[in-house]
Amino acid sequence: MTDPEAKVHRRGFLKILSSLFAAVGLGAIVGPAIAFFWPSKLEEMPSEPVSVGSEGAIPQGAAKTVRFGRYPALVINTPERGIVAYSAVCTHFACLVKWNPESKMIECPCHEGYFNAVDGSVISGPPPTPLEEIRVTIVDGNILIGGEA
Ligand code: FES
Repeated sequence: MTDPEAKVHRRGFLKILSSLFAAVGLGAIVGPAIAFFWPSKLEEMPSEPVSVGSEGAIPQGAAKTVRFGRYPALVINTPERGIVAYSAVCTHFACLVKWNPESKMIECPCHEGYFNAVDGSVISGPPPTPLEEIRVTIVDGNILIGGEA
């Protein structure tokens, strides 16, 4: 014969176990959903300016991706503003964006995010905020990005 108290203990243990499984399952669903909508943040920008090369190295309508601290930066020579630079890290889910010379847009291949090359604003897609702009200075014909004003 089974002890009735042992049954209660077993039932209580099974309740706790099923609650644990439910909590883990909920976390597995809710965690990625929160991460999907949580904008990524660029960190560790270098405090010193980074050299991109000579002004003539990037013809109008062309772009160059350069290392900028831990992350790459996209430097574009636009007809409207001349040389501009943005963090190449998408503000949606931190994929790396690239310049498309045919469409004249900055594109994120991960979820079809499109950014304006003139000001880094979002044209379409899921990115929640514009690309982070990086200060550009020209010193003796050389392009420098970042650094203090
Ligand atoms: S990471 Fe989703 S659009 Fe760029």
